[in-house]
Amino acid sequence: MIREIVYFLRHGPSVSRRQASMGRVEFQQWLAAEADKDGLAELRSALVDALRGDILEVGAGSGAMFAYYGEGVSVTAIEPDDEFRAGAEEAARAADVMIDVVPGAGESLPCPDASIDAVVASTVLCSVRSVQQTLAEFKRVLRPGGELRLLEHVRSESWLAGPLMDFFNPVWLHVNKVGCNWNRRTVEAVREAGFRVASVRKYKLWSPASPAPCPGRLIKAVR
Ligand SMILES: C[S@@+](CC[C@H](N)C(=O)[O-])C[C@H]1O[C@@H](n2cnc3c(N)ncnc32)[C@H](O)[C@@H]1O
Repeated sequence: MIREIVYFLRHGPSVSRRQASMGRVEFQQWLAAEADKDGLAELRSALVDALRGDILEVGAGSGAMFAYYGEGVSVTAIEPDDEFRAGAEEAARAADVMIDVVPGAGESLPCPDASIDAVVASTVLCSVRSVQQTLAEFKRVLRPGGELRLLEHVRSESWLAGPLMDFFNPVWLHVNKVGCNWNRRTVEAVREAGFRVASVRKYKLWSPASPAPCPGRLIKAVR
């Protein structure tokens, strides 16, 4: 935990200065590109590995996931923020697969019941207003046997770091300015929502651009 705190203090201030000097979309694209170089790219590939059919990506941001989809998919990408969605529309035009970018939020998805083969979300459940409502929506739109693929940072399981993350979450919310909570128990929430968790891969991303090295989980679950 000391290592994580030192890393945050070392890299956080320069990232904050960069965030203040850049536009929101430009900053998010820079952050995604840097994190991809530092190991996120491999996790993004694993997130959508072997998916086929109708895919719903929720919280697409400016489209950082779009380059990772393989053949045989038709993607609907939902993003509530107008500026990020404009970036996603541009990324969709450059993508190799069919991607339709639409407005919407995880808590109220603009999709019929049981119409989707896989729901994908990358670092989104940390920011949604209601994790429970969002997961209920994922379940509603997935076909029986459909897959939920999540790449999320989560609350630490450590007896010390976990409570510290709870205590300092309001400070973190103030610092990150994008509504990101670092203390969500996402794996537990997926189980509580009634999904069968097929696998959980643990990771920790050490990227100066993303200076809070929280525990991460690549979650594959089935409706
Ligand atoms: C950290 S960014 C991740 C963007 C992208 N998925 C990626 O991997 O780079 C979080 C995204 O979640 C979106 N978001 C926030 N609240 C949301 C909600 N309730 N429903 C859907 N997306 C949401 C934000 O607008 C933002 O684009």
